[in-house]
Amino acid sequence: MEGKVKVLIPEEEVNRRIREIGEQISADYAGKELHVVCILKGGVFFMCELVKHINVPVTHDFMSVSSYGDGTVSTGRIKIIKDLDEPIEGRDVLIVEDILDTGRTLHHLIQLLHTRNPKSIRLCTLLDKPDRRVVEVPVDYVGFAVPDLFVVGYGLDYAQHYRNLPYIGVVDSESEG
Ligand code: IMP
Ligand code: MG
Repeated sequence: MEGKVKVLIPEEEVNRRIREIGEQISADYAGKELHVVCILKGGVFFMCELVKHINVPVTHDFMSVSSYGDGTVSTGRIKIIKDLDEPIEGRDVLIVEDILDTGRTLHHLIQLLHTRNPKSIRLCTLLDKPDRRVVEVPVDYVGFAVPDLFVVGYGLDYAQHYRNLPYIGVVDSESEG
C-alpha cells in the first residue's frame, strides 16, 4: 500500500516552524510549569520535537481518542481509548495534536478536560485545515494551515501508515497499488 508521497512541507521547514513555536510557548509560559497532554498517536511525533525547544519545566501525559476509522471520512464521534494517567486540576495544560480538521475531536476533548478544573487549557496543533471546520475550536498555536487535502507524515497516518515520514506529504493516489 506504500504509494508515492508528494512533499507538501519539507522536513527543514517543519522543524524550523516547530522550533519557533517552542520558543513562543517558552516565552508565553515563562515562570510557569507546563503540563503537555499529547494526543495519541499522531501528536507524539510533533510533541517530541516541540518539547525539545521549550525551556520552562514540562511534564507529559497522553490520551488516545478516536474519531476516524481507517479511511479518510470523519464519523463525527469520539471515543476515549486511553485516558490521562494523572489529574490535571490546577495545572496549565497544553494539548498537543497533529491536525485540526472538522474540530469535532478537540471540541469534545476540551469540553471534557475543562470539567477536571485545570488552571488553563491551550491548544497547539501542527496542522490546521480551516476550510474543513464544522465546530469552532479556540486554537493558540498552529504550525501550518494546509488546504483541504489528506496529508500524511510527522505523525499523520493513512490507515496507520506514513506516520514516520519526517515531512508533511500528500499520498499520490495515481501511483498507489
Ligand atoms: P477532527 O475531529 O475532524 O478535527 O479530526 C482530527 C483527527 O482526524 C486528527 O487527529 C487526525 O487523526 C485525523 N485527520 C484529519 N485530517 C487528516 C489528514 O489529512 N490526514 C491524516 N489524518 C487526518
Ligand atoms: Mg489519526
